[in-house]
Amino acid sequence: MTRKIAVLAGDGIGPEIVAEAIKVLSFLNTDMNLDLVFENALIGGAAYDAFGTPLPQQTLNLCKNADAVLLGAVGGPKWEPLAHAVRPERGLLGIRSELGLFSNLRPAILYPQLVDASTLKPEVVSGLDLMIVRELTGGIYFGQPRGTRIMENGERQAFNTKIYSESEIRRIAHSAFKIAQKRNKKLCSVDKANVLEVTELWREVMTEVGKEYPDVQLSHMYVDNAAMQLVRAPKQFDVMVTTNMFGDILSDTAAMLTGSIGMLPSASLDANAKGMYEPIHGSAPDIAGKGIANPLATILSVAMMLRYTFNEAAAADRIEQAVNSALDAKVRTADIYSEGMIKVSTSEMGDAVVNALKGA
Ligand code: IPM
Ligand code: MG
Repeated sequence: MTRKIAVLAGDGIGPEIVAEAIKVLSFLNTDMNLDLVFENALIGGAAYDAFGTPLPQQTLNLCKNADAVLLGAVGGPKWEPLAHAVRPERGLLGIRSELGLFSNLRPAILYPQLVDASTLKPEVVSGLDLMIVRELTGGIYFGQPRGTRIMENGERQAFNTKIYSESEIRRIAHSAFKIAQKRNKKLCSVDKANVLEVTELWREVMTEVGKEYPDVQLSHMYVDNAAMQLVRAPKQFDVMVTTNMFGDILSDTAAMLTGSIGMLPSASLDANAKGMYEPIHGSAPDIAGKGIANPLATILSVAMMLRYTFNEAAAADRIEQAVNSALDAKVRTADIYSEGMIKVSTSEMGDAVVNALKGA
């Protein structure tokens, strides 16, 4: 049975890093008869330039008909002056929402070879392996009403709404508890229940759902404390579950614990484990086209795709091991480079992973 992957390279470094992930996936496709086919489409600024919208209908149709989506990154200074409705980011948010990808998994794993690349002390981060489960299709990112208006006194005012219904909280809770069951069975729910009603409900529903998972130890933490704890003692966490915006912020912090945001993959899943896979970093316009971006987050995203959507755990393991081997061989892109290592380009890093796969 052929399995179709929609490939949306996007903007900035997107095309460069996606090319390396496809290189890795194509090798395994042949080597392991995975029966994967790829189809490309435009998203973000690239789509705006071609069609006047960051999420053209044909892109959306392709994604809806595909079994999984691989995304690079969207956005860049070129499109910043555009109206909100047609900004590249809207393409990304639109696809998450249209495909119902409410459960966003952002693992932060520190590869032992990169312990010195982190800005934190080795003893704080070594052995780090945590999973952030971010709600992705609700909360303040999508809440209505939203907008800007002119007040009676002529002053401009802007507003957004942080809103969650019980069912939205319940389904992300189940996602997070199930993930915790497969890991160390510790789930920390992050909220701001001391101030915001919406996250008071979040806490209540998390606690209710928790009764169905007696084997998982549930704790609650306010987001300000969670941000502090992430840099103070991140190894206390196994799985964290949180709202869309808190998850956006905390996952960038978690990324830095691992040395570079260029290392972190993500999966965004719907209720049937159909998913979109993307690195958590952005389009990095400052280094776009230079061939120096780190493709490992995207390569690791492809491993997540094989694991979560295609149930090809062996293939996923092979990619993760190959990344490990490439790091063992001392090859490093600029973001993770340190003295004594071999500095390589984006495509050389992709080649190093493929070579490791060939050897394995
Ligand atoms: C992320 C990004 C996006 C987000 C942007 C690009 C809209 O920061 O995936 O974390 O805020 O969700
Ligand atoms: Mg973000």
